[in-house]
Amino acid sequence: MKKDIDYNNLPEHIAIIMDGNGRWAKKRMLPHSAGHKAGSETLKAIVEEAEKIGIKYITVYAFSTENWDRPKEEVDYLMNLMDEFLTDNLSASKKNNYKIQIIGQRQRLRKDLQDKIKKLELNTKDKKGINLIIAISYGGRDEIARAVKEISRQVVKGAIQLDRIDEALVARYLDTKDIKDPDLLIRTSGEQRTSNFLIWQSAYSELYFSDKLWPDFNAEDLKTAIVDYQSRERRFGGR
Ligand code: FPP
Repeated sequence: MKKDIDYNNLPEHIAIIMDGNGRWAKKRMLPHSAGHKAGSETLKAIVEEAEKIGIKYITVYAFSTENWDRPKEEVDYLMNLMDEFLTDNLSASKKNNYKIQIIGQRQRLRKDLQDKIKKLELNTKDKKGINLIIAISYGGRDEIARAVKEISRQVVKGAIQLDRIDEALVARYLDTKDIKDPDLLIRTSGEQRTSNFLIWQSAYSELYFSDKLWPDFNAEDLKTAIVDYQSRERRFGGR
């Protein structure tokens, strides 16, 4: 018999690599953009479901630093989809309980998107529902390099002493400074790698790989991933 979720042992933070939009579209002889569109609908549904289950944080990989190398039409389409997603959430921010944050190189985004992000973060900062973190123009190595640069700047200024640099200090210079590390990292589409996503933060995350393509991933699949997580013994390097 299929096991049910144990609501007393939920992962507090789930990170998701939403992969397989292109293959989903190809299977249907649709343009790649149709896969991204379907993927953004899946994202809405999964965030809703995660909030219902009682997950506190969900971080999704919407656009990587490497994704800038995709064809211009695809990049533009993805930026427009994100614009639409932010706009919808801005209008819903009165009734919705989501706290939304963006991580990544936001200065590389269109100015209007940057403005919308600022507004959405401000409007939702005191919300008590699920924390939705969207990684846009994000790369784990880039995030660490930016942190190293900023810490070095502080050292040169004399604001940080070299001997004070430890893991906790580095973590405070990452985009995720106020966010607890993910407990569970899900990747869809059968690929088994983490592709530069939250590489510092996922050091002890449980990894879960689903064969479903992202647009096909549904509430049941999310629950299955959580049940699987709950069967694991987390030792964080201890005994
Ligand atoms: C990977 O699929 C997915 C992406 C590169 C983008 C993810 C974006 C969304 C799910 C929707 C937009 C996001 C928001 C926040 C509205 P792929 O194109 O690499 O798929 P493939 O490997 O099958 O080609």
